Amino acid sequence: MAEKKLALVVGANRGIGLGVVKEFLAKGWDVVATARKPAEATELNALAAASPGRVTVTKLEMNNPDDHDALAAALAGKTVDIALINAGVSGPGHRSANQATEAEIGALMYTNALAPIRIARGVAPHVKTGSGVIAFTSSVMGSVAVNPGGHELYRASKAALNSLARGLWGELAGRHLTLLSMHPGWVRTDMGGQSAAVSVEDSARGMVTVMLAQQGKHHHVYIDYLGKEIPW
Ligand SMILES: NC(=O)c1ccc[n+]([C@@H]2O[C@H](COP(=O)([O-])OP(=O)(O)OC[C@H]3O[C@@H](n4cnc5c(N)ncnc54)[C@H](OP(=O)(O)O)[C@@H]3O)[C@@H](O)[C@H]2O)c1
Repeated sequence: MAEKKLALVVGANRGIGLGVVKEFLAKGWDVVATARKPAEATELNALAAASPGRVTVTKLEMNNPDDHDALAAALAGKTVDIALINAGVSGPGHRSANQATEAEIGALMYTNALAPIRIARGVAPHVKTGSGVIAFTSSVMGSVAVNPGGHELYRASKAALNSLARGLWGELAGRHLTLLSMHPGWVRTDMGGQSAAVSVEDSARGMVTVMLAQQGKHHHVYIDYLGKEIPW
């Protein structure tokens, strides 16, 4: 019998994260999926009911460090093959660095950049040496090289995530893991809006295909859901 594989998806209540959970389940993997309010995670709970024993729904609020630590503790004794840290927010509606308050910047940076790295540090010891992958859902908007302007606060938060991920990569030296900073496409979710170019299903399928193809590569790359590298 083939060895059971385990994926962790942080931020899986809806949108791309939920799509990625469905994709891993369709491939026969088990999944630990996080949601801020597990009791209200209707779709995740339906998936768990439909696949008994294969989906564990775990509480995680990005802005609560106790939840990061609890997730790491809950993984004790488990081996994660692929971890996708996906949750994110678009930031204040005005999108302007000039208008932003300290509180708005703090919230955006914590959710999109600091919390993902803090979570990854806790999860990393439980990721399989050799073939294990830790991926962040970044965005092409985090690229400093490809920045036509606009959405400046969100761009800065994802650029910060990319920079922190590169720092984490240095710490992971010797673990023989693979680290990915991923762009999921412009996706029709609550964040991407209904005029976005890519369906959740196509994005999730691409994200999972790329994460699987990257197993064992032992590098940190900035890559999109179709496997194309993005200039930093
Ligand atoms: N959609 C796009 O076009 C696009 C493009 C590039 C990158 N991305 C990135 O892709 C990721 C997923 O985005 P999406 O389009 O799927 O957005 P979405 O539909 O708005 O879903 C966002 C997810 O993040 C979770 N989340 C947000 N804040 C959280 C917090 N403080 N604690 C815990 N969970 C939190 C949400 O949980 P709740 O359901 O509990 O709110 C939800 O599961 C994000 O990192 C986003 O920046 C999206």
